[in-house]
Amino acid sequence: MLRLVILATCLTLGHFADHDTFKNCSRVEFCNTLRNRQPFDKYAVDPSTITIDDNGSVKMTLKAKKGSDLQLELLALVDRTFRLRIKETASTRYELHDVLVAEPQLAHIDGVLQQDNYVTIQVGETTAQIFYDPFVVNFYLVQVHQVVIDGSTLTFDESLDQAFAFNVKFPAALQLYGLHEHADSLALRDTNGSDPYRLRNLDVAGYELDSPMALYGAVPVLYGWGTYSHAGVFLHNAAEQWYDITNGQWDTQANVMVESGMFDLFVMIGPSPEDLVQRYLSLTGTFRLPQLWTLGYHQSRWSYMSQEEVKDVVANFTTYNFPLDVIWLDVDYTDGKKYFTWDPATYSDPVEMQKNISAAFKRLVAIIDPHIKVEKGYNVYDGALEKGYFVKRANGSVFEGDCWPGLSSYIDFLNPDARQYYGSYYSYDKFPYSTPVLSGIWNDMNEPSVFDNSIEKTLPGDSLHFGNVSHRDIHNIYGLLHTMSTHQGLLDRDNGTTRPFILTRAHFAGTQRYSGIWTGDNTAGWGYLSVSYDSCLGANLLGLVFCGADVGGFSGNPDTELLQRWYQAGAWLPFYRAHASSDTQRREPYLFDSGVQGVIRGAIQMRYQHLPVWYTLFYEHERNKVPVIRPLFYHYSYELETFKLRNHLLVGRDILVRAVAEPGVETVTVHFPGSENEHWMPVDSTEVYEGTTDVDVPVDIKSIPVFYRVGSVIVRKDLVRLSTDEMANDGYTINACLDRRNQSTGTVFLDDFTSYNYANNKQYNYLRIDMDDVNVALTKIDEDSNPDGFDFVIDEVIIHRIVQEPQNGKPGRYVKTVHKTDANGQLLKNLKFNYDEPVSIKLGL
Ligand SMILES: *[C@@H]1O[C@H](CO)[C@@H](O)[C@H](O)[C@H]1NC(C)=O
Ligand SMILES: *[C@@H]1O[C@H](CO)[C@@H](O)[C@H](O)[C@H]1NC(C)=O
Ligand SMILES: *[C@@H]1O[C@H](CO)[C@@H](O)[C@H](O)[C@H]1NC(C)=O
Ligand SMILES: *[C@@H]1O[C@H](CO)[C@@H](O)[C@H](O)[C@H]1NC(C)=O
Ligand SMILES: *[C@@H]1O[C@H](CO)[C@@H](O)[C@H](O)[C@H]1NC(C)=O
Ligand SMILES: *[C@@H]1O[C@H](CO)[C@@H](O)[C@H](O)[C@H]1NC(C)=O
Ligand SMILES: *[C@@H]1O[C@H](CO)[C@@H](O)[C@H](O)[C@H]1NC(C)=O
Ligand SMILES: *[C@@H]1O[C@H](CO)[C@@H](O)[C@H](O)[C@H]1NC(C)=O
Ligand SMILES: *[C@@H]1O[C@H](CO)[C@@H](O)[C@H](O)[C@H]1NC(C)=O
Repeated sequence: MLRLVILATCLTLGHFADHDTFKNCSRVEFCNTLRNRQPFDKYAVDPSTITIDDNGSVKMTLKAKKGSDLQLELLALVDRTFRLRIKETASTRYELHDVLVAEPQLAHIDGVLQQDNYVTIQVGETTAQIFYDPFVVNFYLVQVHQVVIDGSTLTFDESLDQAFAFNVKFPAALQLYGLHEHADSLALRDTNGSDPYRLRNLDVAGYELDSPMALYGAVPVLYGWGTYSHAGVFLHNAAEQWYDITNGQWDTQANVMVESGMFDLFVMIGPSPEDLVQRYLSLTGTFRLPQLWTLGYHQSRWSYMSQEEVKDVVANFTTYNFPLDVIWLDVDYTDGKKYFTWDPATYSDPVEMQKNISAAFKRLVAIIDPHIKVEKGYNVYDGALEKGYFVKRANGSVFEGDCWPGLSSYIDFLNPDARQYYGSYYSYDKFPYSTPVLSGIWNDMNEPSVFDNSIEKTLPGDSLHFGNVSHRDIHNIYGLLHTMSTHQGLLDRDNGTTRPFILTRAHFAGTQRYSGIWTGDNTAGWGYLSVSYDSCLGANLLGLVFCGADVGGFSGNPDTELLQRWYQAGAWLPFYRAHASSDTQRREPYLFDSGVQGVIRGAIQMRYQHLPVWYTLFYEHERNKVPVIRPLFYHYSYELETFKLRNHLLVGRDILVRAVAEPGVETVTVHFPGSENEHWMPVDSTEVYEGTTDVDVPVDIKSIPVFYRVGSVIVRKDLVRLSTDEMANDGYTINACLDRRNQSTGTVFLDDFTSYNYANNKQYNYLRIDMDDVNVALTKIDEDSNPDGFDFVIDEVIIHRIVQEPQNGKPGRYVKTVHKTDANGQLLKNLKFNYDEPVSIKLGL
């Protein structure tokens, strides 16, 4: 009996977060108090205080029936966005910096109407309406009621220091999304039977599924999704927050509880999903186009313990014919966990190691964390200590806590000089033996993590930052500021010539301007494979587009079925890296039998074939503020069936992927969106499916269901080599999926794959491709761009044509024809195009 109990404990280890360490709402005073507050109309507008200035700002006093009065300011912004700020008359609250991409642009107010009991502000088709008593703020688009700030529940609770709370309602919405990051379904659940969703960046080992517990990232955005109208709010505040959620017609709302900082709320009105996401990205920025190699496959482990091991792993990838672009170094490469150093015994010749990696057309990424080992004589420590660049305790002494190196201090990234100082260590002269082959940096443990359970494994809230700012006010941007420092450091290191690659664990609104993210220390279980789709889709709707999860799961040992499914599913998330904890069995793909190797190789090759799709989508993200991967409801929000769908995603608009996150299955249910006018073609068979249907599609272990949208052109590189560099000069394959009118269209983007010349000098080749049954037409999208040196070389064209329409839920059939020459018998790849004029090529048979 005893043995059984012990066994059960071991099996579940890693699946359960430590609930003694990580608090629930009832153990956090402000949450416990504010969660169950009763509405009581504490505030009313004093109409005599209303002022309206012609640059879009409306101000008024909220008279408190009890306690202190508040000041309200409403700003009308461009792009159907409002900003509502509420604070005490003598506010000492921290005003957040560094999050918004720029100061938001004010809109022209078209009309103000002051009535006895309310005032309305009209901006284009949007209206903000403020009722005086009871105090309520309504936001409309034309006549549709979009967002309500319910004044009856507004609470500034002086007994709880600076905590405040309010309710926000979304009358046109049916379902709430957002509040990244939680290990839960993308659709936020009603929280009436559980804890509220918590936003506080924390290092939660063994995090649980279906849980509102806080994780590494915090993005305080709620999207209210309907079938015809979409609106959202963004709370510009980096303190700890809790959100109670209710979904349902006429009753979609959140109860928002915040520990400190400003009530500074952006209200964003769609009405379309695309509009709504664009509004949010206009405020917080986009992810810049990454270097092409970052989209390849990454191999990591905690840790590759020596340069010999690195050499052997890289050699094995080559020997066993697995594509690989990047090998990663976790903490053990350092000398005693001192960042910006190398272990002299195990990494005795980092320069030669990097040369060898580069000779194999691979790159290196190494980890650099924000905690600095307390050790006199360690230059990074000495300099930061001398200049006062560490976070301090409430009593003014430098904070010291336990982390990987033992006793550590934490860089105070709120201080711009400290950011500059830390960033400067990335330069080649200050990071000994680093070379350009060290092509990216991994910023981990930046919640920040402190090994002390009594403080939820992070800095105490009363620690002090630059300018005497309490840690509690800025906790959730610590990781953002860390990556900001790294980003500038890498830009400076390479004179601004190379696009930095950074991966971060902690993140906040705006992190996308500096870094990609991954879902942290997940577990080798089927549910974690599934939730990686929820999590990265959620991140993509919030601009954090470069997102992935540790393939195989960080903790625990996946069986080979799970591992294969994970490689297949992970190939369709933007960031594709395998990583594993130090206590797991080795699982580099070449270590398995040839059958398993074949499946994993196929998954990675599928990724490399579609790299032109990924690269183009990342460019279009930056250009158009659109997510790279998308939940189905982003394009098909009129279909309620898409709202809670799991294990499905769209890559761009045109590729539908169904992860197989169920063991031992012979079929999986695929939801095909888009009504009977939308058709979907599987990449590896000849059926055709139509929307809107749910179909049980057969699967075997070799692949997961992937479909191209009929009407699309998918540009691939079908000859897969062992790295992106080795594929640089290969030509492209155009896959045209013809619709009923024999038409299809798509785009492709090419540039030098590394520099900012695409942005600074318009040096790129961005083409629209239109195909019918015999012609390929290429049109330059930007007249003034310069495509010299970036020829779009076509190896072949594959036409997918429907020969039998799907009917009554039964799949139809398509056929493929491959064309390698034009009508004159010229090989397509030998044709050179004049990009200044649209070109049309008539295909040969
Ligand atoms: C909150 O956590 C404490 C300690 O783990 C536990 O005893 C308590 O039951 C929890 N409360 C709720 C409402 O979950
Ligand atoms: C316009 O707004 C700015 C701040 O946003 C303010 O300083 C200025 O006084 C305003 N102008 C008017 C005419 O009120
Ligand atoms: C939560 O709300 C739903 C819908 O209103 C209701 O059916 C359910 O009983 C509630 N659960 C709890 C625990 O109150
Ligand atoms: C390389 O592959 C061989 C053969 O599978 C294996 O024995 C060896 O352990 C591998 N080396 C590393 C570092 O993975
Ligand atoms: C670099 O490659 C050479 C040739 O394979 C090998 O002898 C040497 O040990 C490698 N050095 C490192 C540091 O990996
Ligand atoms: C501040 O607090 C720390 C930890 O409690 C203590 O070690 C240190 O001596 C204190 N410093 C001052 C200046 O009081
Ligand atoms: C720093 O802030 C604390 C309260 O957060 C206050 O007691 C203290 O006086 C401030 N110190 C300075 C130098 O402003
Ligand atoms: C950056 O500029 C310096 C000074 O002009 C030069 O020495 C260095 O080689 C440049 N580095 C890169 C990576 O371009
Ligand atoms: C589509 O192309 C096929 C093959 O060239 C042709 O037979 C058919 O008539 C075309 N259909 C339309 C609507 O143009």
